[in-house]
Amino acid sequence: MPCDVGQDAVRAAELLRRGRLVAFATETVYGLGADALDERAVARVFEVKNRPSFDPMIVHVARFEQIEALVRGIPEWARALADQFWPGPLTIVLPRSDRVPDLVTAGLDTVGIRVPDHPMARALLEQCATPIAAPSANPFGAISPTTAEHVLSTLGDRIDYILDGGPCAVGIESSVISAQDGQCVLLRTGGIPLEDIEPLVGSVALPDPTAESDTTPHSSPGMLARHYAPNTPLRIVSAEEVAGHLAANSDARIAVLLGAPLSGVDRAAALEVLSPSGDLRECAASFFAALRRLDTARPDLILATGFPNHGLGRALNDRLRRAATGGTA
Ligand code: TXA
Ligand code: MG
Repeated sequence: MPCDVGQDAVRAAELLRRGRLVAFATETVYGLGADALDERAVARVFEVKNRPSFDPMIVHVARFEQIEALVRGIPEWARALADQFWPGPLTIVLPRSDRVPDLVTAGLDTVGIRVPDHPMARALLEQCATPIAAPSANPFGAISPTTAEHVLSTLGDRIDYILDGGPCAVGIESSVISAQDGQCVLLRTGGIPLEDIEPLVGSVALPDPTAESDTTPHSSPGMLARHYAPNTPLRIVSAEEVAGHLAANSDARIAVLLGAPLSGVDRAAALEVLSPSGDLRECAASFFAALRRLDTARPDLILATGFPNHGLGRALNDRLRRAATGGTA
């Protein structure tokens, strides 16, 4: 039976405290939350998502002060980033304290923490007064959810409540940052662009995407090459190539995903234009929902144009690349 969907943060907090699972709105994507200090509840999150146990979870807290119990010291770079971007779409990876269960961090000696910036997430965290471990509320490897309906249709019969906060305003996951040998490393591009981070902490290293694979855990173990994947094969092309592809494959049902309007796409079996002006914030906010709609239309192929590689475009290109990996096209 599908779970209830509502806006009752008190009820959601009560369920979490009893070891149950609650999906909740954040500004990035919906999270599937469990009490981070309750190992049995955390284990159920892995089970419900079908998530491999080497993939660590992000721990969410209501306020900066709460991270002190979860980490071994807060370095200056982390403090500077938290001051600037919390609450918000940035996850900071720090050496963890003994209070954080092994299961949450997949046995790593670090923990990823963030203070989300959504009234619903904040109300829930304040009410339950415990840190909440929460991955995105989708089956492992599938498209991330940006509405309560997305969660309901995939995990609704396996969880206890969905705290509905409407569509997520940022629409892509948090940026994940750590430090190695005194330099910050952006493990996942996301809602806070690289260009906003570097003025605070100096040059930031980006892991080499070609070094990623689907079998080898690496520095950010959740970042498997194939991720955020629709069922339909997806191919990334330039804007100039779209019309040519549609003309050359007129017997196939081809859907098209665009960051900005483009002419010559009348033949598309389904079309999503993320922003009338190509605004990257607007693109990010509608990206996952649009990808999901195209996938549901069951075309033979999705053609997607890449984004400019700056600001949120970098994170959008990363998600596109992962959606394209492993497809047959
Ligand atoms: O925006 C978000 O971050 C959303 C919302 C719900 O907060 N959560 C989310 O969680 O995207 P998830 O589990 O789908 O992705 C978490 C990412 C993974 O790539 C994981 O490997 C990385 O964060 N991560 C978590 N803890 C880590 C750690 N200790 N070291 C390195 N990477 C870590
Ligand atoms: Mg995820």
